[in-house]
Amino acid sequence: MHKIISVLLLAVALVNARDINQAGLDLIEGFEHFEPNFYIDAVGIRTIGYGHNCEALGCSGIEAPISKATAEDILKKDLVKFENCVQNAVPFVNDNQFAALVSLTFNIGCGNFGESTLLKDLKAKNYSAAANEFASWCKGTVGGKKIVLNGLVKRRAAEKALFLK
Ligand SMILES: *[C@@H]1O[C@H](CO)[C@@H](O)[C@H](O)[C@H]1NC(C)=O
Repeated sequence: MHKIISVLLLAVALVNARDINQAGLDLIEGFEHFEPNFYIDAVGIRTIGYGHNCEALGCSGIEAPISKATAEDILKKDLVKFENCVQNAVPFVNDNQFAALVSLTFNIGCGNFGESTLLKDLKAKNYSAAANEFASWCKGTVGGKKIVLNGLVKRRAAEKALFLK
């Protein structure tokens, strides 16, 4: 009996991603504008809640308007993929570092994170160098050009602060 329970607990531990902490959720929600209704975003994509992309992630079953609590549940599901790639790459980071990295990776993608100098610094346990690398990811594409965006500068600064907390 004891053995069976241990095996079950192990199975649950394996399928359960590490969750972002509340400070990380608050950070993301603060930067992703909340919308209770479906809208078309700046690049023409149907979106709802905290920037949930209907084209990439699907919106079947979502009945607008949604509450902030529902939007947060949707956001948590959207984050799982990013929690998994960060956890696989750097399982040794603390909860605030993990949350800051998930927020960044949610923006830049697992591929970019995997090839980043930030990840290299983390693997070398050079945390001050890693913290300074957040600022290298402040560019967005506007009208086909890559430029530094003010919103991203602020978000990267907030992520760095959480990473160092
Ligand atoms: C951490 O990285 C910085 C920037 O690359 C480098 O100057 C510094 O020597 C590194 N520190 C350690 C302890 O490796």
